[in-house]
Amino acid sequence: MNLLASKLGKLQLKNPVTVASGTFDTEYGQFYDLNHLGAYTSKTITPEPKIGNPGPRLFETEAGLINSIGLQNPGYLSFINDHLPALRAKLDIPLIVSFSGSTLQEFCQVLSALEETGMADAYEINVSCPNVENEGIAFGVDAKVVAELTLALRKLTKRELIIKLSPNVTDIVSVARAAAEAGADSLALINTLFGMAIDWRTGSSRIKKGIGGYSGTAIKPVALALTYKVASAVSIPILAMGGIYTWQDALEFFYAGASAVALGTANFSNPYAALDCISGLDQYFQTKGQTVQDIIGRISF
Ligand SMILES: Cc1cc2nc3c(=O)[nH]c(=O)nc-3n(C[C@H](O)[C@H](O)[C@H](O)COP(=O)(O)O)c2cc1C
Repeated sequence: MNLLASKLGKLQLKNPVTVASGTFDTEYGQFYDLNHLGAYTSKTITPEPKIGNPGPRLFETEAGLINSIGLQNPGYLSFINDHLPALRAKLDIPLIVSFSGSTLQEFCQVLSALEETGMADAYEINVSCPNVENEGIAFGVDAKVVAELTLALRKLTKRELIIKLSPNVTDIVSVARAAAEAGADSLALINTLFGMAIDWRTGSSRIKKGIGGYSGTAIKPVALALTYKVASAVSIPILAMGGIYTWQDALEFFYAGASAVALGTANFSNPYAALDCISGLDQYFQTKGQTVQDIIGRISF
């Protein structure tokens, strides 16, 4: 019996550990066989290529990382033609392709093109992009917009549809419910929090664009709280992320209600972080004689 087996909607996972979009690449294959992962999640792609934001665009704080990459990516056509076939050929595990857009139509355009390739097992929808039809406010902050988007994408695919939620909202539960009711198979949370760092000596922003996305150790309690909140409110499974570095961190998220976890910032300081997490979980559950499924949502008070 595989003690680590888990399910994320339609995805059968041999273990419940993946990597967070934008923090991992096939270059990590030089450290270990990527097929040890439960699933592989690719960097968000957008309709047009993006060169990303000007630097400096990364700053390490006392307890986390601020990034302002600006969704640098080659655009969906180049991804599909130049990257996806090789990526698919390398992976026997579920491939989760992340994408974004600035209008509902753009999201649909990318999904339709990906569907034609038949190469993705799941889509992770990054709704943190500004919505150009809605005064540039991020898609993910408005439950109604998330519902419309989910509904439109649902019509275009039977594959696993994961809506990735932003923590930078007043009421994450209403957004989560909207996605679930509109047909999402699962939810991923959390994307980065807003963050800023200033050099006290000079008064200059550490990040060229000012405010960036905050991730890593410091955001774990926020991610745990939101995982718990959302898991208590919806019945679709959760892929949790936010400050997960170790197998012990992962266990906390299972207790909070996650069915699977993703490691993000952890990959930068330890390229083996996801692999270490999987083997740590394996040993833990073998010693305990339990399965991952036994503890999902079983937090006690
Ligand atoms: C450098 C960097 C780039 C990221 N790029 C993306 C991205 O392209 N798409 C996305 O959905 N999330 C992106 N994220 C957010 C992560 O996928 C993840 O949701 C977040 O960092 C929280 O997890 P962590 O604390 O384990 O890093 C990025 C994060 C970092 C640090």
